[in-house]
Amino acid sequence: SDGEKINTNIVTLTRFLTEEQVKHKEATGDFTLLCHALQFSFKSIAYYIRRATLVNLTGLAGSSNITGDEQKKLDVISNDLFIEAMRSSGKCALLVSEEEDEVIYFRDSKHARYAVACDPIDGSSNLDAGVSVGTIFAIHKLEDGSAGTKEDILKPGSELVAAGFTMYGASAQLVITMKGGTVNGFTLDQGVGEFILTHPDMRIPKARSIYSVNEGNSLYWEQNVKDYFESLKQAPDGKKPYSSRYIGSMVADAYRTLLYGGIFAYPADKKSPKGKLRILYECAPMAMVFENAGGQAVDSKMNRMLDVVPETIHDKAGIFMGSYDEIEKVKAFHK
Ligand code: AHG
Ligand code: MN
Ligand code: MN
Ligand code: MN
Repeated sequence: SDGEKINTNIVTLTRFLTEEQVKHKEATGDFTLLCHALQFSFKSIAYYIRRATLVNLTGLAGSSNITGDEQKKLDVISNDLFIEAMRSSGKCALLVSEEEDEVIYFRDSKHARYAVACDPIDGSSNLDAGVSVGTIFAIHKLEDGSAGTKEDILKPGSELVAAGFTMYGASAQLVITMKGGTVNGFTLDQGVGEFILTHPDMRIPKARSIYSVNEGNSLYWEQNVKDYFESLKQAPDGKKPYSSRYIGSMVADAYRTLLYGGIFAYPADKKSPKGKLRILYECAPMAMVFENAGGQAVDSKMNRMLDVVPETIHDKAGIFMGSYDEIEKVKAFHK
């Protein structure tokens, strides 16, 4: 009938996961349950971020993590929320978190077959200013017969079974992709407390003249990185130079890049020869999202990011990710 067009056939994340499970005959439902625990952690982290300035959750916790970052109170709380969600799911055998020095093993979860890596709050330096931040996750499956060891997570991104992130912005946006699959985006509807499929089959535009990089590091950049970014500021044959956008939360910069196109980079440089971003819970999951959306992601040596094997759980890499054509241009500058 006419009148208000209310959509009553809503695809929630729960429904989406159930439908995915039905498509895979061999699925046991364990992955679906793990994802339910994940989405609960995103909802609770979103809740605490929104209330932070009201309930004294701004500022520093007074500690630092193994990669040298000062921890914010919300880094610590979000990490605890994430750990408990994974523990209580019974489906997670081990967890690597930015905020934990060592791998956490959930030995009580006897039949758990998954290994998870997470960045509980990405962009935490932005928290007290109310700027968008996010949570990043990456899911590996244990090797057959493995009881769950470090080797089950020290794997290249190409072996991930699923990865994604939630961005806590004007609304909470969850992006998830599975091995060989499409990229799907969900928006948290606070009213019903569900993530709703709002961005099915996300495809990154093939090109767009926007670049996102911390230009304050340019003093330390290698010459080819300097040359590449300098080229974007030129205006050959009447074209306009690129626009610059840098939030300083990788999740937010990556989400914009996914939707609008262009490039996000955090290159390795003379001061940080391995870059700043960490492979297991920042670079690899983002690279999987970008590739499955039709884009590309490479490290500072122009290796495919998903082929990079981390040596240690907090190992880092330089990264360039974005529109297909733009990454081709980056590669050309590195020849
Ligand atoms: P995190 O907050 O998880 O430690 O990550 C911070 C990262 C990432 O979000 C962002 O892209 C980058 O650090 C910003 O670094 P700069 O402040 O050096 O630009
Ligand atoms: Mn940090
Ligand atoms: Mn981060
Ligand atoms: Mn973080």
